[in-house]
Amino acid sequence: MSGVLIGKPANLKGTVKISGAKNAAIPLICAALLAKGKVLLKNVPQIKDIENLLEILRRLDCKVSQKRHRLKIDNTNLKYQPLTFEEVKKMRGSYYLIGVFLTLFSKCEIYLPGGCNIGKRPIDIHLDAFEQLGFSYKIIQDTLFIAKEKELKEVSFRLKNKSVGASLNAIFAALSLSKVTMTNTLFEPEGKDVLTFLQKIGYSIRLCFDELVYEKKPLEFRMISHKMIPDRIEAMTYVVLGLLSGRITVCNVCTEDLELPLELLRTSGYDIVTENKKMIATCSRGSGMNIITEVYPGFPTDLQAIFGVLCAFASTESEITETIFENRFQIYEDLHRVGISVCKENNKILLKPQKFSSDAVVFQAKDLRHGAALCLLGCALFQDVVVENFEYVERGYENFIAKIQSLGGNIERINEKNK
Ligand code: EPU
Repeated sequence: MSGVLIGKPANLKGTVKISGAKNAAIPLICAALLAKGKVLLKNVPQIKDIENLLEILRRLDCKVSQKRHRLKIDNTNLKYQPLTFEEVKKMRGSYYLIGVFLTLFSKCEIYLPGGCNIGKRPIDIHLDAFEQLGFSYKIIQDTLFIAKEKELKEVSFRLKNKSVGASLNAIFAALSLSKVTMTNTLFEPEGKDVLTFLQKIGYSIRLCFDELVYEKKPLEFRMISHKMIPDRIEAMTYVVLGLLSGRITVCNVCTEDLELPLELLRTSGYDIVTENKKMIATCSRGSGMNIITEVYPGFPTDLQAIFGVLCAFASTESEITETIFENRFQIYEDLHRVGISVCKENNKILLKPQKFSSDAVVFQAKDLRHGAALCLLGCALFQDVVVENFEYVERGYENFIAKIQSLGGNIERINEKNK
């Protein structure tokens, strides 16, 4: 278990460079197994989820070599193996290997992937898509066995619900067929980055609104290099940190992927300036917000807890509705512990800022974004704060401690022991 100690707030100042997007990196690395030729991925974040995924690839005899943010993948000797509990329990994104395996090996055996504690997170939409593509499955004691049942050539179907993961997994599984048309797909900026990569490695894919069409063409051997998009959630995490405690320039970002959260901050009176690939966030007290999480381009669920912390310091009340994951409200219990008035009604939180209580507090991160939100809270409170289970944060944020320290933040690691 590892934790961080966050001391009294400093006036954070400086520039922070945003890393590549976790939610693009995971499927991109899996998609690299579908290339005919070597792949160089650039701007790969150095985070725990990627380390875990690369471990799996090595066990499958895939050659991977990493130099800082550049990752070379050579899948020449890739071999089929069942994916075990130990390998997949730590990261939900390992489910992308199912679609990839179905195209490469026509089968997959995998322990049902784990991940953050943010809700039930079934994979029924993925499974339904695999069935439409001619695969059949059974689940025995939490292990999924799936294999080709029908040799289909052309398939046209609708994903049974909107899902980021299922849309990508379905296209990964579709690539051995001749022609596939899927509707009701959902590709956020990270998913679109993966589609661009698939096109670069030679797959013929067209996306028009939510309809995706794939047509098989012979793959040529090529060397591909692809630079992944920056992490919009990491970027906004540092923006919120700047708004809470200093003046932070957040660089290497795609502001066009963040229009809605930026608009919300501006209309609530926060001091945020965007220029080219930069955002400059200056400590300011805005009014409360009405946040409703939605699929892209709506307000991202991954920012809900982080904005929740900002709302606790606002001048008026906020209303926060979570529509994607049913269990992403842990941060409000913590805010309540430090004196904020919080009222929960189904999937809605009513939050009334009040004077913070001043006892030292120990918090426990329950998932990645909850952990990051707790650290932001710690950076803004006038008391020492400990955030335990910091390994959740390290799953998705590169050098979180070092980046905050470089801004003058009072944060240090404590009590590290391998779990
Ligand atoms: N859902 C189902 N059945 C399915 C798939 C999803 O019921 O088969 C439900 C989910 O339980 C959820 C909703 O549909 O309630 C949306 O899930 P979706 O499949 O769209 O999300 P995901 O692929 O599981 C990815 C990211 C999440 C991010 C969401 C939304 C990865 C590895 N994960 O999850 O990232 O919140 O899209 O943008 O890409 C994070 O980074 O902290 C994180 C949780």
